[in-house]
Amino acid sequence: MSSNSVIRPGYIHHIFLRTKRFDAMRAFYKLVLGCEAFFENEMFSWLSFDREHHRIAIANMPQSQDQAPTQEGLDHVGYQYAGPEDLFATYERLRDVGVEPYWCTDHGGTTSFYYKDPDGNGLELQYDNYPNREALLEWMKGGDFARNPIGVDVDPERLIETFRTGLDRLELHHRSRRGDFLPEGMSMAAPAAPFPADPVGYMISIRRAVGAGPE
Ligand SMILES: [Fe+2]
Repeated sequence: MSSNSVIRPGYIHHIFLRTKRFDAMRAFYKLVLGCEAFFENEMFSWLSFDREHHRIAIANMPQSQDQAPTQEGLDHVGYQYAGPEDLFATYERLRDVGVEPYWCTDHGGTTSFYYKDPDGNGLELQYDNYPNREALLEWMKGGDFARNPIGVDVDPERLIETFRTGLDRLELHHRSRRGDFLPEGMSMAAPAAPFPADPVGYMISIRRAVGAGPE
């Protein structure tokens, strides 16, 4: 090994959030991700959903400022589920207590439901549509992803209902990409060729145009 070899980290370990809504934030992550507190006092909450001592650290900082809507930086953190059964059961559990996603889409590689925590930080709850990277790459070579790398939106209720008629995740994904589960009032967007200069603005404009998105 040469002396300047880069030793890579093993994985992303945790996120650290400053908040002035300490109680609401720690309650949200316990509810949504099923986190348990490894350590908590009036200053910090160390939360984890697995064997790590913390995955989400929340700091009680009453002097912190609200996020600006167009602030640069981190948009969301993605959390991986084993498959559609787990994501859909989580969606229903949260829906039944009034926690709803603000965006559900088939990105190609993943089926993703997006939520916001009480401070406005994004969470992407997702599962992989393909069994491995090679299979995903094979599909990407077909051109569908290049034509639409943002996603085809889905109505979660219709998606779940159809999944439970006996489809597997790949069949569901192909139907999602065809637009079979588009939310009420939405139509397939014109292809973004080759890639929109402002993908987020592009996405928001499509959603506004069909009256299906936030202002
Ligand atoms: Fe993401």
